[in-house]
Amino acid sequence: MLPRCAISVCHVFVLVLCLSSAEDFDWTKNDHGSFYYGTFPAGFSWGAGSSAYQTEGAWDKDGKGLSIWDVFSHKKGKIQQNDTGDSSCEGYHKIKDDVGLMKELKLNHYRFSISWPRLIPTGIKSDHINEKGIQYYNELIDHLLENKITPIVTLYHWDLPQFLQERYGGWQNISMVNHFNEFANLCFERFGNRIKYWMTFNNPWSVAVEGYETGEHAPGLRLRGTGAYKAAHHLIKAHAKVWHTYDTQWRAKQKGLVGISLSGHWGEPVDISNQKDIEAAERYVQFYLGWFATPIFHGDYPQEKSYIKGTCDFLGVGHFTTRYITQKNHPSARSSSSYFTDRDLAELVDPRWPDPGSEWLYSVPWGFRRLLNFVKSQYGNPMIYVTENGVSEKILCTELCDDWRIQYFKDYTNEMLKAIKDGVNVKGYTAWSLLDKFEWDEGYSERFGLYYVDFRNKNKPRYPKASVQFYKRIISSNGFPNQREVENWRRKAVETCSTSNQLLAAEEQRSTAANILRLIHDPLTSHMEMVTEIVVPTVCTLSILLSAVFLMFLLRRRN
Ligand code: BGC
Repeated sequence: MLPRCAISVCHVFVLVLCLSSAEDFDWTKNDHGSFYYGTFPAGFSWGAGSSAYQTEGAWDKDGKGLSIWDVFSHKKGKIQQNDTGDSSCEGYHKIKDDVGLMKELKLNHYRFSISWPRLIPTGIKSDHINEKGIQYYNELIDHLLENKITPIVTLYHWDLPQFLQERYGGWQNISMVNHFNEFANLCFERFGNRIKYWMTFNNPWSVAVEGYETGEHAPGLRLRGTGAYKAAHHLIKAHAKVWHTYDTQWRAKQKGLVGISLSGHWGEPVDISNQKDIEAAERYVQFYLGWFATPIFHGDYPQEKSYIKGTCDFLGVGHFTTRYITQKNHPSARSSSSYFTDRDLAELVDPRWPDPGSEWLYSVPWGFRRLLNFVKSQYGNPMIYVTENGVSEKILCTELCDDWRIQYFKDYTNEMLKAIKDGVNVKGYTAWSLLDKFEWDEGYSERFGLYYVDFRNKNKPRYPKASVQFYKRIISSNGFPNQREVENWRRKAVETCSTSNQLLAAEEQRSTAANILRLIHDPLTSHMEMVTEIVVPTVCTLSILLSAVFLMFLLRRRN
């Protein structure tokens, strides 16, 4: 998400911040602490999400082509621990199991993405269509529908066919617009009779900035100052083209909607009485959301105004966190100009904000309400589906008792409820994510799932975290009935997770012992590898380790 260097800048600045200013900021009439008891509008859709590369695995199965993420993750040093999405959650082989989990949660919708190279291995439709890939998504869609879960489909969640990257330079090249359109058209043709909600892109900001400017994501290019802008330009054009294709060829028959999922942090001015800070905060949000939303909603884009304007039937909003923003002039040396220097601002965080997981992810629920209000006022109150919202964890032992995730979901969904009361047209919410999964450059080190996945076990078993119980209650009550009940949900959720925790601990002990036996019989496996596999810095794992060492000692003596 945010480059690490930028985060450390935040940390430096945070100490000198005057934080009281936010308290006076009242345009949303929002006092931060208050909780609103009430329900969501009837028909509000509750869901959870995933994406193809993050969960499917089966990276080279059944005729799938390579994606830029397959190639990037196989390069040493790109991903934490050199993890890859090769098998990930094995979602490709677990349709029934996973739809079962969704049923357990009583989800109304499930958001997933289609892997372009699984359907079209080279990315070029006239080369070859992989019918086995089509079959997989057919099964997934049919199974969801049989279980009354509405599929919401993203066409592009970052896994560009590698061939298109190699031959054309990927999103640096205008030819992607047509290739993507052909892929989208194929999806409309094969799945459109059953899919009513399409999204062209997931978080195009990340595709452009992290893929082509900072190089933290695939394809890993560092084209400072030009890469992100060029990619974004082609992404916007591709989006518009696909929307027009649907509009002219499929809409009348299929009656679906085509939108785009944009992600953005909220940016709050450090000093609300300082015009420069107010403008910097506005720029911050514009450089995330506005970059894509302004052309799409207002057509404020040179040459292609009318073609791009209005190409959004609904807006997907992905949101996780907030920053304080202040004006900061970057030196304007031409050679060092980049997306980041162009924004001319500094990001800061409040040290009191909880940050249970990913380094960049602070829990700041009130920022969500502000972002939603911003979308309402800037883009003519569009229909919104929240496409991503959630939190990860860094604690490795008590994963299943995720009280902090309960708190995050409770507070963020409550701010969304307040936004709806403010008049924002939010129709659905997608918790991110259904499962723990491959987190891009962070590998498996960050867990966003409602369900824990044991990645060390080949079968990738899933275990419910406490937040499953809590989210389920929000869904079945369609909101928050009253304080007593909501607190009760939380207490019960945390109680039940301890049983699941014991199950998981027993399973982990079993597989650790199995690993050790395997290692003892494999003289080539280094001590270091064994340690990486079994050491986690928590008390419970230390005890597992001690028993393991003892076991090794006994076995060695017997030999
Ligand atoms: C991405 C997700 C990812 C999440 C957390 C989002 O912007 O779309 O794929 O899991 O960030 O890193």
